[in-house]
Amino acid sequence: MAVTTRTSLSLTRRPRRLRRSEAIRSLVRETRLTPDCFIYPLFICNGAGVRREIGSMPGVFQLSVDEAVKEAAAAKRDGVPAVILFGLPDQKDPEGSAAYDPDAPVQSAVRVLKREVRDLLVMTDVCLCEYTSHGHCGIVEGDDIVNDATVEQLVRAALSHAVAGADVVAPSDMMDGRVGAIRKALDERGFDRTAIMSYAVKYCSGFYGPFREAADSTPQFGDRRSHQMDPANVDEALREVQIDIDEGADIVMVKPALPYLDVLAKVKERFGYPTAAYHVSGEYAMLKAAAQRGWVDEPRVMMESLIGIKRAGADMIITYYARDAARVL
Ligand code: PBG
Repeated sequence: MAVTTRTSLSLTRRPRRLRRSEAIRSLVRETRLTPDCFIYPLFICNGAGVRREIGSMPGVFQLSVDEAVKEAAAAKRDGVPAVILFGLPDQKDPEGSAAYDPDAPVQSAVRVLKREVRDLLVMTDVCLCEYTSHGHCGIVEGDDIVNDATVEQLVRAALSHAVAGADVVAPSDMMDGRVGAIRKALDERGFDRTAIMSYAVKYCSGFYGPFREAADSTPQFGDRRSHQMDPANVDEALREVQIDIDEGADIVMVKPALPYLDVLAKVKERFGYPTAAYHVSGEYAMLKAAAQRGWVDEPRVMMESLIGIKRAGADMIITYYARDAARVL
């Protein structure tokens, strides 16, 4: 018997009516990705004319300041409003003192970027792990990362970024009390307009692997479980956010992004605060690696990942795909 296409079930609801054309799909679209929600990470090293690709992050480079200016200017032209800087110092010591050297790569890059790339928002990552000889995020005593002495170092680093002209400082270390200490030090020195984006909810994650190659910050012994959060916890994440807001954070972050979308959604719902998500190095590397094998369609999975993060509640997304995604949009 021939199937007749005119047979009609008498349905009152036919959701497919709203999916029939791009025009109608765009009218009912609930979440929109725009380049102006992206923050683009840059790894800054010493030297000139340096553009060194990171093995586990194809398309991401360690850049000297002059190259970083070109990259940031290109990102700005693509519609990306902001960059976040990570530094690769020449010298490391147990206290991470290069983190507050006024002539270190990050501080130099901030000065030059603010001068040369108009209207670019410049954020800086504040942590010691790239600067300590042992690769830990703070001062080590025995097997302890000493909280309060580390906070003092972080305050010095954040201040040096503010002095260089950073618009936003972003402590990523997960020490207790660092947001309040940084806010107080900034205010006392007249940097009341420098904002703080706190890595409030940072999980102890295997997805940071490629970053540690990029930033040369792998701990020489032990791990980061004494300060970064247990992936199993969400009530604790909400407490962390509350504390950082109370201490004066202007923006709170959840990191990584895709394995923690439930956390992101809860943070946004509970606090209604400006919320960032970090689509981290391992999340980027997985998509890149699969795409290179032809196993996934890269532009598609890139956009799907980013829209998912936005839909879950992120106001802004830190992503190595910032330029690629901006160009698709
Ligand atoms: C710490 C820092 C890390 C990342 C951002 N800031 C690494 C870590 O905690 O080990 C990871 C970002 C990424 O994986 O893309 N300075």
